[in-house]
Amino acid sequence: MKKKLLGAIAISAVAGLVLAGCGTGRDGGGTDEGEGISEDARIGVALPDRTSENWVLAGDLFVDGLEEAGFEPDVQYAGSNNPVQDQQQQIEAMIQNGAELIVIGAADTAQLSTQLQAAKDAGITVVSYDRLIENSENIDYYIAFDNFEVGVLQGTALLEGLEERFGDEDTWNIELFSGSPDDSNAPVFFDGAMSVLQPKIDDGTLNVVSGQTEIAATATQDWSAENAQERMDNLIQGNYSGGTEVHGVLSPNDTLARAILASASDAGLETPVVTGQDSEVESVRSIMAGDQYSTISKDTRILVADTIDLISTLQAGDEPGDTEALDNGATDIPSILLDPIIVTQENAAEVYADDPNLAPLTED
Ligand code: BGC
Repeated sequence: MKKKLLGAIAISAVAGLVLAGCGTGRDGGGTDEGEGISEDARIGVALPDRTSENWVLAGDLFVDGLEEAGFEPDVQYAGSNNPVQDQQQQIEAMIQNGAELIVIGAADTAQLSTQLQAAKDAGITVVSYDRLIENSENIDYYIAFDNFEVGVLQGTALLEGLEERFGDEDTWNIELFSGSPDDSNAPVFFDGAMSVLQPKIDDGTLNVVSGQTEIAATATQDWSAENAQERMDNLIQGNYSGGTEVHGVLSPNDTLARAILASASDAGLETPVVTGQDSEVESVRSIMAGDQYSTISKDTRILVADTIDLISTLQAGDEPGDTEALDNGATDIPSILLDPIIVTQENAAEVYADDPNLAPLTED
């Protein structure tokens, strides 16, 4: 870990020198602050590794949408072997190649300070996308679905599903999963869910049989399905082998939900109520089949379109309306937060009616 960090710092230092050497006169370089963004500006989009379908979709949508709006897109994904370092290098290259604005879906929300300082020094506007980059003042805007609300909806869905499937029980046995510790969204999803679930744990309606209620114990490194499945296998072995039923599992996204369901099924347990997020094709299929209970619709088409609208607004020299301030640990970031939608078997057809990937799955 330490080695990785040092490597990143060394590379950043080199990039810093290159930038300093080029000054503001470099070919097609980022604008100085106050100069505004060119109509045909090069726009960098740095996305994390493809840990869920939303990221895969976002890349293509950014390429098409930015071109259509007259910009020159430079969309890059971090690889899965070395995502943090990859992304740091990609952002450094975007700065050197003259991006005037960079959109970042961070691979690790705590490890971009050096790159953001370099972007700031080059007069480049930075938009933090989906995940709020922490502890840096050099972020101009944040745009995402309301992550706390996502958690609230997940907690609410879990309770509704438990009532629906296991209404006869006095106490519902549940387990809790959260996302990757390097993603600032993970604690926000978890806190949102716990704002609904904690009172029900306190009054005995819910029993977290393993006792693992602290976020550190529930975390899923790298948002990896394998890690979630392994933890669920262990939880079942340690707590549910004597015939105790697991009625529900809070899962922060669809990839992990399917891993948790696979683990329960491998152990021969009755299908627990499992929440999710992202409207992944396999999960919508599972919901329609009566397995996974819920997902969250955070329509990537809308998030990308709104991000491009924001870029066009800034290009025109205007300020976006309707922002709210979110503290990222260094300062308040003007943020645009969109409304997520909870989806179960009941409303899936309606919610996905105009989605060419998902509408066919919800037909009778
Ligand atoms: C996103 C989720 C996604 C997760 C894993 C989060 O930051 O908000 O939509 O499921 O990352 O990729």
